[in-house]
Amino acid sequence: MARPQAARLDRVQPPATLAAGERARELAREGRDVIDLGQSSPHHVTPAHIVEAGIKALRDGHTNIGSARGLPEFREAMAEKLARDNGLEVDSRGDVLPTPGSKQGLYYALNAYIGAGDEVLIIEPTWVSFRQQVELSQGTPVEVALSEEEEYNLSYDLLKKYVTPRTKAVIINNPNNPTGRVYSLRELEDVARLASEHDLLVVCDETYEYFLYDSNRHRTLAAVPGMWERTLTSYTFTKAYSMAGWRLGCIVGPQALLEPLVKIQEHTASFVSPFVQMAGTAALTGPQDHLEEWRAQCEALRTASVDRLNAVPGVHCPLPQGATFLFPRFSKGGSSADLAQALVEREGVVVTPGSGFGDSGEGHFRIALMRSPAPQVSEGVQRIARVLEAL
Ligand SMILES: Cc1ncc(COP(=O)(O)O)c(C=O)c1O
Repeated sequence: MARPQAARLDRVQPPATLAAGERARELAREGRDVIDLGQSSPHHVTPAHIVEAGIKALRDGHTNIGSARGLPEFREAMAEKLARDNGLEVDSRGDVLPTPGSKQGLYYALNAYIGAGDEVLIIEPTWVSFRQQVELSQGTPVEVALSEEEEYNLSYDLLKKYVTPRTKAVIINNPNNPTGRVYSLRELEDVARLASEHDLLVVCDETYEYFLYDSNRHRTLAAVPGMWERTLTSYTFTKAYSMAGWRLGCIVGPQALLEPLVKIQEHTASFVSPFVQMAGTAALTGPQDHLEEWRAQCEALRTASVDRLNAVPGVHCPLPQGATFLFPRFSKGGSSADLAQALVEREGVVVTPGSGFGDSGEGHFRIALMRSPAPQVSEGVQRIARVLEAL
């Protein structure tokens, strides 16, 4: 008989995105003509100057033990980026914690502050791991579903309906994965008002901060007056520098709020490999030209793909304001898992079922615009449209 897992794991689901990625790799190994529009990580290789900095650090012997708090040069480079791009003046000695990928850092944040019986508001549809990380921390995820009809608008009144005496935290992902919503200052101020009134911890994930379209502007929630003291903000090198395989992320917040996270890092991952932090420092301080190129590619793909999908009867695909995804709604073909399965089996296109992003994601699927080179993404969208038209 199999040994039962710890009870808190019973409610934890594997990430929908990883399942899609595994399936894409399996089919490609079988020789199928597969187009991967599943996972969010870019197909680009890490820019050469970052790779060189990593290799140099390895050659220079930065391969040994490091501090859980991170290298001073990495923390200083992050502090400069935060002042330049996010309107945050931080103390690099204590307000910046490098973590092995932001997923790990977000888990530290929730694990450090959430325990049995604590409720966490999750603004959905949203990234696949927040709900699971709350469950892993023995907390209770509370879905605050935004509606596509209302353009995924966020408001104080909506959030307020879900607050109880047990509410401890709210998680916001801005720009949002998968909807592409970029929250306005008014919406962020609403979150701030609610958090202040109910003394909530705020976890804000700014993974896609550099992927913005049209006139949309990214604002960092921690920079809204009164928010710094209660906010932990997550950044990653996975998207903007295509460094998924290096595992490098960073949690930013006041030192007092970060201390429990440092404790967890000390007893789990220990630290981020020093040569990885040195590559990350090169990423932050080196040329940023690739960013505009990657952003512009997504922008062009976004418009053409939305037009194609909206020409399919029964499909509605809003134009995302930011991030690197399309999140179309469809009306035929069963559940989002059924549709994703049909797309793989019939046309070899891997997408992520909307149900992976919370119950409110059902009836949608997610197309990742950066997972494959642009011509393949365009071809993938054509194939998806063909399948949907034939349903
Ligand atoms: C919103 C969001 N947060 C966090 C992550 C995790 O990124 P990483 O752990 O590679 O830094 C992702 C990756 O897909 C994401 O989309």
